[in-house]
Amino acid sequence: MRLHDKTVVITGAARGIGRACAVRAAEEGADLVLIDIADDLPEIPYPLGCADQLELTAQLCRKNGASVLVAAADVRSQAAVRPAIEAAVDRFGRIDALINNAGVGAPAGKAAHDFTEQEWQVVLDVNLSGPWRLIKAVAPVMVAQRSGSIVNVSSTAGLVGYRHFAAYVASKHGVVGLTKAAALDYAPMRIRVNALCPGPVHDDPAVDGQMTAVVADALGISYEEQQAVYLESVATDSLVDPVDVAEAAIWLAGDESRKVTGTVITVDAGFSAR
Ligand SMILES: NC(=O)c1ccc[n+]([C@@H]2O[C@H](COP(=O)([O-])OP(=O)(O)OC[C@H]3O[C@@H](n4cnc5c(N)ncnc54)[C@H](O)[C@@H]3O)[C@@H](O)[C@H]2O)c1
Repeated sequence: MRLHDKTVVITGAARGIGRACAVRAAEEGADLVLIDIADDLPEIPYPLGCADQLELTAQLCRKNGASVLVAAADVRSQAAVRPAIEAAVDRFGRIDALINNAGVGAPAGKAAHDFTEQEWQVVLDVNLSGPWRLIKAVAPVMVAQRSGSIVNVSSTAGLVGYRHFAAYVASKHGVVGLTKAAALDYAPMRIRVNALCPGPVHDDPAVDGQMTAVVADALGISYEEQQAVYLESVATDSLVDPVDVAEAAIWLAGDESRKVTGTVITVDAGFSAR
């Protein structure tokens, strides 16, 4: 039980990697604060997580014995996020880890100059400013405790470019920068901050994964074509599963990684070894 007696906040918890992290954290004994927008956004060209998916994640965690607080909140708004964190402190008394996972993969599919101002803004606002807002809400709690672990989910797109994904790539590089700067800010208070860079993740139906389909759609190619591109890009014969990312997030969240801060861990099936 590597997260026994710990309270873990996870954003983007309705499905995908966020759900995988939540279920693994529950299995490791954590109590959970599950945050998701649980609604669509007009600027995002695919359905986001919904309330039923968020509730399903919560149920799966409760089955493992976790106490769970669920909050529908948009990480683009400090006013939306703050009450969720206040409620978490009221309920659990502390916050031991934050997994900053909420993110959007599109708008994309065009050269950098073809993004509209609004398309550019929404991707940066969710993917980069969102994690900063959660840090802003959670860090005072962790500073008072003089302990905590923050895991920012970036991407291999935080390390290299992907053609026609300028906003996403810029946001995920920003997450790596935020991670390093925050790690230095909070090290004296014993709060660790690390980034996780997943490579292409298999669309696992167990967590309602759909990012390969989203990316294929953004690029105007079929799911099968996108899958083949991804498989060609990794060194192994299969893509990363959401639970592989969750395993790394759990390790970073817990005490086993107590001397690890300001680092970037790839879980990318060898993508970045080339
Ligand atoms: N799937 C991949 O191949 C892959 C690879 C590398 C990195 N990532 C990153 O992993 C994270 C999770 O991706 P995923 O594949 O599970 O995606 P997903 O779309 O399945 O899940 C993302 C969740 O974030 C939520 N969300 C989106 N915008 C939000 C907002 N404004 N406020 C609150 N919640 C919001 C969605 O509702 C959804 O439930 C993202 O940050 C993504 O960029 C994914």
